[in-house]
Amino acid sequence: MHVVWYTALSIDGRIAGPGDDMAFLEMVDGSGEERDFEDFIGRIDALLLGGGTLRWLHGQGHDLPHRGIPIWLVSHDAALAARAAAADPDGTPVTRAEGDVATVLDAIGAAGHERVWIAGGGDIAGQALAADRVDEVILTIAPTVLGAGPAVFDHPALELKRFALAECREYGRGAVRLRWLRDREARPA
Ligand SMILES: NC(=O)c1ccc[n+]([C@@H]2O[C@H](COP(=O)([O-])OP(=O)(O)OC[C@H]3O[C@@H](n4cnc5c(N)ncnc54)[C@H](OP(=O)(O)O)[C@@H]3O)[C@@H](O)[C@H]2O)c1
Repeated sequence: MHVVWYTALSIDGRIAGPGDDMAFLEMVDGSGEERDFEDFIGRIDALLLGGGTLRWLHGQGHDLPHRGIPIWLVSHDAALAARAAAADPDGTPVTRAEGDVATVLDAIGAAGHERVWIAGGGDIAGQALAADRVDEVILTIAPTVLGAGPAVFDHPALELKRFALAECREYGRGAVRLRWLRDREARPA
C-alpha cells in the first residue's frame, strides 16, 4: 500500500493560517493545480482524514472531502463520523478509528486499498510520518508567509527522514509543486 500526503502550504510550512484561515490558497487558484489534483485523486482508493480537517470542511459547508472514496476518519468524535457517514446518499463509506495511525493504515491495507491519500491535516500526517508510513509527499507551496497555524507535519518528536525529489513544477502565480518519494535506503554521504 502506498500512502501519499498531498497538501498546499505556505512558505513557512503552514497548511492554514491563524483561525484556520485558508485564504492563502487564492494564490494557487486558477494556476492548473486543480487539474493536477483531479489526476491525482483519480488514482486514490482510500482517504485518511483527521477530525480537525473534517470539522473545518463542515464549517465551510462541505460534507466530505471527496465523495465516492472510502474514508477512514481518525477522531474521538463519534458524532462527527456519523454526520460524515450520513452525508452521501450514495454511501461514501466512513470508518472512524482512534489510536495508533499505523494500525489504522494497516486496516486500510487489509481492506484491499492500494493508494491512500492523507487528506489532512498536519497532526495526522505527522503521526503517519513518525511511524514511517508516508511513502510520498506532494506539496503545493503558495508564495505566502502565514506566521502561525497548523504545520505540515505537526508532531513533537519527528526523526530525520530522507526523501528523493521526483518532480518540481511551477504554477502560474509564483507557486510551486514539489513531489518527493520516501527514500528508506539513503545513507548520509
Ligand atoms: N492546506 C491544505 O490543503 C489543508 C489540508 C488539510 C487540512 N488543512 C487545514 O488543517 C487544519 C486541520 O489540521 P490539524 O493538523 O489541526 O488537524 P487534523 O490532523 O485534521 O485532525 C487532528 C484531530 O484529529 C483527532 N486525532 C488526531 N490523532 C488522533 C488519534 N491518533 N486518535 C484519535 N483521534 C485523533 C483529534 O481530534 P478529535 O479526536 O477531537 O477529532 C485531533 O485534534 C484545518 O485548518 C484545515 O483546514 C489544510
